[in-house]
Amino acid sequence: MRGIKIIGTGMYVPETIASNDWLSTFLDTNDEWIYSRTGIRERRISTDTPNFVMASEAAKAAVADSGIDPSEIDLVLAATCSPDYFYPALSCLVQHEVGAQNAAAFDINSACTGFINALDTASRFLEDGDYRNILVVASERLAPHCDYTDRSASILFGDGSGAAVVTKSDKPMWSYLSAKGDFFNALYCKVDQSRANCPLLKPDIAPVGIIDNEAKTHTLQMNGKAVYKFAVEAMDSAVRKVLERAGLGLDDIDLYIPHQANARIIESAVKSLGIPADKVYVNLEKRGNTSSACIPTCLAELKQAGRIKDGMTICLVGFGAGLTSGAIVFNQ
Ligand code: UT7
Repeated sequence: MRGIKIIGTGMYVPETIASNDWLSTFLDTNDEWIYSRTGIRERRISTDTPNFVMASEAAKAAVADSGIDPSEIDLVLAATCSPDYFYPALSCLVQHEVGAQNAAAFDINSACTGFINALDTASRFLEDGDYRNILVVASERLAPHCDYTDRSASILFGDGSGAAVVTKSDKPMWSYLSAKGDFFNALYCKVDQSRANCPLLKPDIAPVGIIDNEAKTHTLQMNGKAVYKFAVEAMDSAVRKVLERAGLGLDDIDLYIPHQANARIIESAVKSLGIPADKVYVNLEKRGNTSSACIPTCLAELKQAGRIKDGMTICLVGFGAGLTSGAIVFNQ
């Protein structure tokens, strides 16, 4: 039987606050539009801190909170879609910074669903028995990848990192993971190959999507309406499917932690599921959408506030580029 216990959490957000009012100094937008359509008032932007430093700060805080020594970490899993380097993996940089010299390390990229996929992977390594303590970190520095002339996408995103140290538990966990690659072009960011200098190369042949803009091939491109529609259905469906696997009902969950993309998406999913709003944690007013980092950041805030208690049944649910989605239910 698979089971995880979160023994430590940590988070890091950059100092610089980017408010809706600041965005409206150079974009045709305003605080009223952004807040009423998204629930976001401000987000943090990392002006000069690389992703791996942010990730490492969150990871160090999680390890300190867990009380274990870094040498006791057997595996570092990092989720990111905005790494500083193609390679080495972000997890290797975090392993180095944290001093987890005995750990294996690799990355997972499923965009905003990254932490769910990484935590699910961690649970399977823990089941194996060779791995006792796993550091799962999700970290994003999205500002360099956003197009700050695109008012419908750039207003959503923020930078931040969250981490959890997990160990095997004798209480059960369940997961449901999904991907719909047919919708890859609803949300994507192409690798910029424009500076390649191999004389044999033909012009960029990477797949292009319906909303591709040749002038901005290296920035995040999003069909907001398509993602919105997918998100509401995917969150509802992932929660119902994981609960079916668990043999639990919606009322058996003590705390729901959804991906923080848009307050309206969360409200619609909550309404269609019929969950009481006070069981759902939302922090996007001050954080914006930090992609894979949203859920572990919520976990860290909740744990620090004493709201994660032993014996609780917690449901994590997310969606993101891919289009991917997934949910995890575990007894803490
Ligand atoms: O982790 C996953 C990441 N992505 C998402 O979760 C995105 C999901 N989608 C959304 O959150 C919403 O679709 C958006 C927030 C992106 C857009 O909200 P919407 O209510 O779907 O707006 P819309 O695209 O239907 O646009 C309505 C109007 C348009 O103007 P016209 O054509 O009606 O004149 C837009 O140009 O609002 C305009 N608009 C804005 N106006 C002021 C779009 N963005 C803005 C803005 N400020 N920032």
